[in-house]
Amino acid sequence: MKKVIYPKVGGPESIQIVEHTLDDLASNQVKVRVHRAGINFADLMMRQGLYGSNPNFPFTPGYEVSGEVMEYGEHVNWIKKGQRVIAMTGFGGYSEEVIVDAKRIVPIPDSISYDQAAAMPVTYGTAYHMLIHLGGLKPGDSVLIHHAAGGVGTAAAQICQAFGAGLIIGTASKPKKEFVESLGMYFVDKDQDDFVEVCKNLTEGKGVHQAIDPVAGKHLMRSYNALRNGGKLHCFGASSAVPNERRSMIAAFNMWRNTPKFNPMDMMTSNKSVFGVHMGRMDDEAIFENHLSDLGKLMEQGKIKPIIDSVWRFDEVAEAQRYIHNRKNKGKVLLDFSPNKD
Ligand SMILES: NC(=O)c1ccc[n+]([C@@H]2O[C@H](COP(=O)([O-])OP(=O)(O)OC[C@H]3O[C@@H](n4cnc5c(N)ncnc54)[C@H](OP(=O)(O)O)[C@@H]3O)[C@@H](O)[C@H]2O)c1
Repeated sequence: MKKVIYPKVGGPESIQIVEHTLDDLASNQVKVRVHRAGINFADLMMRQGLYGSNPNFPFTPGYEVSGEVMEYGEHVNWIKKGQRVIAMTGFGGYSEEVIVDAKRIVPIPDSISYDQAAAMPVTYGTAYHMLIHLGGLKPGDSVLIHHAAGGVGTAAAQICQAFGAGLIIGTASKPKKEFVESLGMYFVDKDQDDFVEVCKNLTEGKGVHQAIDPVAGKHLMRSYNALRNGGKLHCFGASSAVPNERRSMIAAFNMWRNTPKFNPMDMMTSNKSVFGVHMGRMDDEAIFENHLSDLGKLMEQGKIKPIIDSVWRFDEVAEAQRYIHNRKNKGKVLLDFSPNKD
């Protein structure tokens, strides 16, 4: 079977596809024939050696796949061959076949396609964790979403709608204005407008209840300033360290140097909170399992529906990643590993 590897730090052209034989299946494991693998921004950061928690090179990226069960170990008794499932691979998802612990497998309801299933776990899991689990979003609340047209951004907007948020402000580049507005967000041009001012203006000077910031650097303090008294900021990424497809140590250093150190006394006097969120480093797997279960119900009720930008055959993986670096995507980008190109 074939899989994608990152042989070393590099641009998209460094990515290779290699033949590989999987290890034998352990008694608690499941082998899945992959149909779709989700591409996440973290995969691009890992390729540039700027992620911090990936395996040593060479390795295969890919947190999440959808596919069908090929085989399962003798201690797995709730699954069938051919069953459609999501597998949370941790790493290694960019592959025709994967082996994962049965605890990391979730069945896919009939009404949900392989595309939607692979597009859901990381983006919706992260947005749900921030806005609902940590943030306790209430009907009428105001929320600021950056990268509003991207994978997590579109998921966050739908979750806000599903939970009755009053005002959703989304920042993105200008070509995405109509798309962002079509998701019920107030569009802010990230290159032209001052999002802090917009947040204050639209909330009678108070600021928003929650802001989710995947940019870091100086941007993070601006998101903090956009909060009202009692507001919550989620720091969950560092996209400013990755301005394009080539690694820039200057950009990475600037992100690190300019990311604010929050003062607990200032936070106390304004009742503001700052959460750090890294789903890949969550120790308590039950939290994520609960999120997936809640999200599965919302999906079946039609309250959320992943927006798929595009599906690329796996040998186009370099182009698919370039497409994200070039800020073309509106929603989730997937890789197609299916045997029949379905
Ligand atoms: N902590 C966690 O557990 C966790 C989990 C998932 C995602 N994340 C983070 O959340 C962010 C979004 O992730 P995603 O997978 O949903 O990606 P995404 O938002 O779909 O990423 C691509 C979009 O981001 C915007 N963007 C802003 N700065 C960019 C840059 N320097 N390079 C390329 N695009 C940039 C672009 O839209 P515009 O044209 O509008 O700029 C682009 O279309 C990332 O920072 C990621 O690391 C964190």
